[in-house]
Amino acid sequence: MDRLDVTETFHSIMFPGHMHTKDSLNYATNFKFQDTDIVIATYPKSGTTWMQEIITLVLRKGDPTIAQTQPNWARAPWLEQYYCADVLKASTGPRIITTHLPYHLLALALQHSKAKVIYVARNLKDVSVSYYHFHKMANFLPNPGTFSDFLNEFLKGAVHYGSWFDHVKGWTSHAKDIQNFLDVTYEEMCQDLHGAVQKVSCFLQCPLTEDELNLAQKHCSFNSMKENVMVNYTLIPQKIMDHSQGKFMRKGQVGDWKNTFTKDQSRLVDDVYTSQMPDSSLLFKWECP
Ligand code: A3P
Repeated sequence: MDRLDVTETFHSIMFPGHMHTKDSLNYATNFKFQDTDIVIATYPKSGTTWMQEIITLVLRKGDPTIAQTQPNWARAPWLEQYYCADVLKASTGPRIITTHLPYHLLALALQHSKAKVIYVARNLKDVSVSYYHFHKMANFLPNPGTFSDFLNEFLKGAVHYGSWFDHVKGWTSHAKDIQNFLDVTYEEMCQDLHGAVQKVSCFLQCPLTEDELNLAQKHCSFNSMKENVMVNYTLIPQKIMDHSQGKFMRKGQVGDWKNTFTKDQSRLVDDVYTSQMPDSSLLFKWECP
């Protein structure tokens, strides 16, 4: 397999080489979406796994059997990762497809598509802290150094999967070009999980009764997912994810950045945010600094 090596990029973006090949990335950009596909698009650490779980549960009216017996990557594979084609070949029913790719790399593939696209965004300060901790446990990502070192690279977009700003701007500014598009924030899922599950079920045209909604909500709560080996990544071998360095289901909170950021770092992020996101209509509503 022609895996990307550490210094190699695809369209100027770095991707972890253990899961991505040039072929798998080209497969993604040329993908033929089906109208029944459900696509989860996220920048890493924005609530990807959570949305995979919510959709899995919504499609099964809250029944957790699949969520508790199939790993998330087998039921909602990442489009750009090398195993995706095989997983999709074997899948039945509406396909759940996950992607961390920026919009511009999928624009052509999504043109004229009726696939249902759900974009999940999260406050960049919490994303940066979550991503920093993930770098410490994920052996396929570079050593992040200190948080300050990492934050500088993150703000420059010099991290795997590229710039958070480009990702959020790309997907949200093209919402109108995607026939079926829903945006959800991590913060609204934290604030009102019941409402978020309902919102997703309406978008997927898969209405749930109150009891079914409650069941789905219970199984996608942080405490429930933290214990579910199908989503907490403890099935991944130690040499790929070192669980002695941290947990994938780490804190699951809004505003945890305040425990890590200095005042200067917070000001720096605010300044970069203002300069990179001048169009306030693109802004998601999340807890302000
Ligand atoms: P933290 O590191 O801040 O805890 P992704 O799936 O995109 O990689 O995102 C991972 C982040 O989502 C982690 O954030 C993880 O704890 C959080 N997360 C996953 N499931 C969650 C849930 N049910 N409730 C709240 N946060 C959740």
